[in-house]
Order: sequence, then structure tokens, then C-alpha cells
Amino acid sequence: MIKGQVQCVILAAGQGTRMKSEKPKVLHEIVGKPMVYYAIEAANSIGSRRPVVVIGHGAEQVKNTIGDRVEYVLQSPQRGTGHALLQARAQIDPASETVLVLYGDTPFISADTLQRLLAAHRDAHAAVSLITFTPDDPALYGRIVRDTHGRVVYIVEYKEASPEQRAIREVNSGIFCYQTQWLLEHLDKLQPRPGHGEYYLTDLVSIAAIENATTATCSCDEVEVLGINDRVQLAAAERLMRDQINTRHMLNGVTLIDPAHTYIEASVTIGTDTVILPGSHVKGKTTIGRECAIGPNTLIEDSQIGDRVEIVASMIEGAFIEDDVDIGPFSHMRKGAHLGAGVHIGNFAEVKDSTLGAGTKQGHFSYLGNATIGANVNIGAGTITCNYDGQHKHPTTIGDNTFIGSDTMLVAPVNIGHDAKTGAGSVVTHDVADNELVYGVPAKVKRNT
Ligand code: UD1
Ligand code: CA
Repeated sequence: MIKGQVQCVILAAGQGTRMKSEKPKVLHEIVGKPMVYYAIEAANSIGSRRPVVVIGHGAEQVKNTIGDRVEYVLQSPQRGTGHALLQARAQIDPASETVLVLYGDTPFISADTLQRLLAAHRDAHAAVSLITFTPDDPALYGRIVRDTHGRVVYIVEYKEASPEQRAIREVNSGIFCYQTQWLLEHLDKLQPRPGHGEYYLTDLVSIAAIENATTATCSCDEVEVLGINDRVQLAAAERLMRDQINTRHMLNGVTLIDPAHTYIEASVTIGTDTVILPGSHVKGKTTIGRECAIGPNTLIEDSQIGDRVEIVASMIEGAFIEDDVDIGPFSHMRKGAHLGAGVHIGNFAEVKDSTLGAGTKQGHFSYLGNATIGANVNIGAGTITCNYDGQHKHPTTIGDNTFIGSDTMLVAPVNIGHDAKTGAGSVVTHDVADNELVYGVPAKVKRNT
């Protein structure tokens, strides 16, 4: 498909009553992403023009979440799927070749299946084409009615279907594509249904049949067109999506000890021979290198992790961890933590906006914030950078090979040279020169006499 030939329209205006939520249905998350994002990604994956999203229920919230990477059309009130596409009419570029309609609550549709639909549509020179599927239980889906030649004649909604029609197992996924010109000429022909006044998008199929225009179909697995309507389906979708992601990593050479209890978002990359233990969550823009051991019970978000890193029961956010580092248990690397190669972080350590040079050790309960620390430094138990005076954050620097004694308070701003030493319990309020030893409260220099 040549980029720009397809114009996607994503229907996302419905209320989602069954979610029983203040939040619009399409913003409920599946593996860390609002479900409507999957439809937008599907649209982009087939090279759609800027997708048009039809919003209605919770419109402002939906718009604020998605941002300006799509066009919006407001549908108010919401009078059915046909009505939704009617509202988008003005946004459909007549120069596009095909209009593809996706649903905001159908997150599993693959680029591959959409390509097959577009190919079937093109090959048949169809006016309308749609994805159908044949589930074991056709439930409340619209039934596909075909004539004796197998041509689709119309789609009947479950609630309006006769018992014979309800017995049909081939059903409508809701994903349609149209020849743009044909759609623009026929969209206005949709009529509201008597009684409830809803416009059915499915009626375009019978309009095409009456004109002897072709309707092509393409089928796919039930899983791909799973619609999310309530929180039970939301949880099932979460499991399914997680399973797909985990399977991809395992096939790429990552060991997951217990995939059912390993939570990895789609945006994460992991190197071969890394082992992820149960209870671990890996989120956002995170990359993990090779031969790492992560977990159990570890949360990593938006972080870069090198090779052969071991992290036990810890939380890592916005951090950059180089090769051969080990962390944990129970430590917290926060935004801007940069750990050089071979750094050792033990238990109950917190690092924020700080760089630790290669081989530096921070073994036990301590806090480093706004600090630049050299290589092979020892941070004693209980060390704290007192970086905050109640109003501002102040920096601490420590040179290579320095030994910070247990329970040292480094009152920032303060600079400690290389190969220096602080005695246990020092409160360092002034700079310490290279090779100097300080001790006491406030810390003073110890001279060798
Ligand atoms: C629709 C189809 C049905 C199909 C099923 C597949 C029609 C008439 N029926 O039924 O044949 O089997 O999907 O899941 O098309 N929406 C709007 N504005 C509206 C109404 C809906 O934007 O006024 C959006 C919803 O947000 C949702 C999608 O359209 O993303 C589908 O709407 P929904 O009400 O769930 O349709 P179904 O009754 O399931
Ligand atoms: Ca639905």
C-alpha cells in the first residue's frame, strides 16, 4: 500500500456504559497504553494519512490524552456507527483512494490483517470490504447474510435478526474499508433506523448490494477483533496482550521464569540470555542488555540497562545503568541516576540526579542526590548528601578513590577531593582537599603530626 492512499477513521465516540467508569472507555489502558492508541498505531502501520478520530463521550479528555497526532471530529449526540462516519465526512480527503474504518475499542487488529483486507478490496475492485470472523459463539455480533452465490447482501444486527439469521455464525468485525469516491457518494444515503433513530454503518453493505457494487470480505482470527466492552474483557485483553509481548521476548532469547507474572510493555527491548524473574514490571522506553538478571519483584521504567546487570527487588526509573552493575535488594534508582560500569548498590540505597563512577560502591542505606562521584569511591552505610536547604538543591562532588565513612552527612554544596577520607559520623560542611582526612561535627581536618 502506498503511503497516503488510505484514510483511516477511528470510531471512538461511544459511551462505553458497561465499563461503569467516569473515564471514557477508549482511555482505559491495556498493557500501559490507552486502548485507542492501538487503533492509531494500526492506522499508522498501514501508512494511513493522519487518522481522523471520532470523539463524543468524554471528548475533551480523549483529545487531551491523544494529543495532536490525529484529526478530531465531534459526534454529539452519538447516533450510531453510521452517524459517526457521517460526521467525519468533511475530513475525508477525496484524493485518497480508500477509507478504512477502525474501532477505538478493538486493540488487537494487526497490520497484516488490515493489509489483507486492503488487498482483497483492491483485487475485487470492491466498493465496500469488511473483515468477518466465525467465532464458536457469535454472541451479539451483526450476522453476515449472503445470497446463494456467496455474495454479501446485508448485515443484520443481532437484536433485529430472525432465529434463522441468528443461527448464522459468520459475523461482522466492524472493520470496513470503502472506495473513497463511492463512500462520499453514498454516505448520505444512510437513513436512521425507525424507533431508536440510530444510523447503522452496516447499511452501506445493503446499499452496495442493491447497486450491484461488489462487497469483498476477508476473515481473521477471533482474537484480532476482540472488542473491549467491560472490565472482565479489559482484564482478558491485558492478559492476552501481555502474553503476546512475553512470547515475542522468549522467542528472541529472553528467559521468563514465570511469564504469567512478568509484566513487560510493548516498547521495551531486552537482550539475549537475560533472565526476568516473577513479579517484575518493565515499562516505557526501557532497554535491557544481554545476560542480565532482573527481579524478582523489580520495577523498571524509562531506563537504559547495560549487559550483565543484576537487579533484585528494586525500583529503577529514568536511570542509566552501565554494564556489570548490581543493585538491591530494596533500592531505588531515580530520575537522572547514572551508574558507571561495575557499580555496586546494596540495600536501601537511593540515587537521584547523580553520577557514580565505575567501580563505586554504595552498599547500605544511604541517599545520593545531585552528586557527581568519581570511580572506586566507597560510600559508607548511612551516608547522606544533604542536598536540599528547604528551597534549593545543591551539588556534591567526590573525587576518585575517596572513602566516605559510615554515617557521613555531606552538607551541600560541598566538594570532596580524590583519595580523601571522612571519619564515621562526620558532618562535612566545608570542602575537603585531595588526600585529606576529615572527622567530627562539624568535620575538621586531621593532620598527621
Ligand atoms: C457494531 C456493528 C456490529 C458488529 C460489532 C462488532 C453496527 C450497527 N453494528 O455493533 O455489526 O458485529 O460492531 O464489534 O455498526 N461509536 C461511535 N459513535 C456512535 C456509536 C458507536 O463512535 O454513535 C463507536 C464506539 O465508540 C465503538 C464502535 O463505534 O468504538 C462500535 O460501537 P458499538 O456500539 O460497540 O457497536 P456494536 O453494537 O458492538
Ligand atoms: Ca461493541
